[in-house]
Amino acid sequence: MSNLKSRLAGRAPKHAIILGSALGSVVDAVQDPLDIPYTELSGFPVPKISGHAGKVVVGRLGGREVAVLAGRAHPYESGNAAVMRPALEQLKDAGIETLILTNAAGSLKLSMKPGALMLITDHINYSGMNPLIGQHGDENFVPMTNAYDPVLRKAFLAAAKKEKIALKQGVYCWYSGPSFETPAEIRMFQIIGGTAVGMSTAPECILARRLGLKVAGISTITNLAAGLKGASPSHEETKREGMKAAAAMQRLLTRFFRDMK
Ligand code: HPA
Repeated sequence: MSNLKSRLAGRAPKHAIILGSALGSVVDAVQDPLDIPYTELSGFPVPKISGHAGKVVVGRLGGREVAVLAGRAHPYESGNAAVMRPALEQLKDAGIETLILTNAAGSLKLSMKPGALMLITDHINYSGMNPLIGQHGDENFVPMTNAYDPVLRKAFLAAAKKEKIALKQGVYCWYSGPSFETPAEIRMFQIIGGTAVGMSTAPECILARRLGLKVAGISTITNLAAGLKGASPSHEETKREGMKAAAAMQRLLTRFFRDMK
C-alpha cells in the first residue's frame, strides 16, 4: 500500500476528476496514462458495484496534467458518508487544487432530457448524513456558499459553447439511495428547488471544500426521475445512458482543460 503522492513518478497534476457511473471511457482521452489501481493506494475505495472501475489514471487531458479517478465509493454502500475522505486527502496531499466531480443523475425537469449534461450550480443535501459529522475543530464549519466555484462554472460554460454542447445548469439533490426515489419524493425535490437527483457528489463536495479544494460538478442526465412521464429508473438504464453521454463529457472536459488560463 502506498500513497498517491509517492506514485506520481515525477508528474505534478493540479487537477483531479472523479468519474461517475459509466463514464469510465473518459480515461481513453488521457494521454500518456499512468494507471494506479485503487487496491495499491491506502484508503482508496474498491468499488463494489458494476459500472465503476477502480483506478487513478494520471496523464494529460487537453494538454494539462490531471489525475482521473475512475470509480468512486458511495455512502449507500456502507453508511459512511465520508467514504471518499482518504482518497480526497491523498489528492490534496499530492498537490491537487481543483476537483471536478461527475455523476449520473435523474432529471427533475421534462425540458432536461436523458443525454443532457448539467453543470451543478449548488446542491441540496437531502440524505440526512454529512461527511464531517464526528470531526472536531472549527474548520469543520465549512462555508457552502459558492461551493461549486463560480470561476470554474464560467469556464465550463465557455468550454461548452465552443464545443456546441447545450450545457444545462441546476441544483443537484443528494438522495442516499441505493433504492431509487418514489414519485412523491421526486415531486418534493421539484418543489424545494432541485433540478436533478443522484446518490453521490454532494458529500465529496463537502469534503473537498473542507480541504480547501476548488470544486466543479457536472451531471450526465441518464433518465427522467421517478414518476415523470411514468419514468421508473433502473441501474441498467443509468449505465446505458451514462455510456452514451461519456463522449460529450470527454469533449467538454478536454476543452475545459485546453482553454484553462
Ligand atoms: N435517481 C437517483 N440517482 C440516479 C438517478 C435517479 O433517477 N439516475 C441516475 N442516478
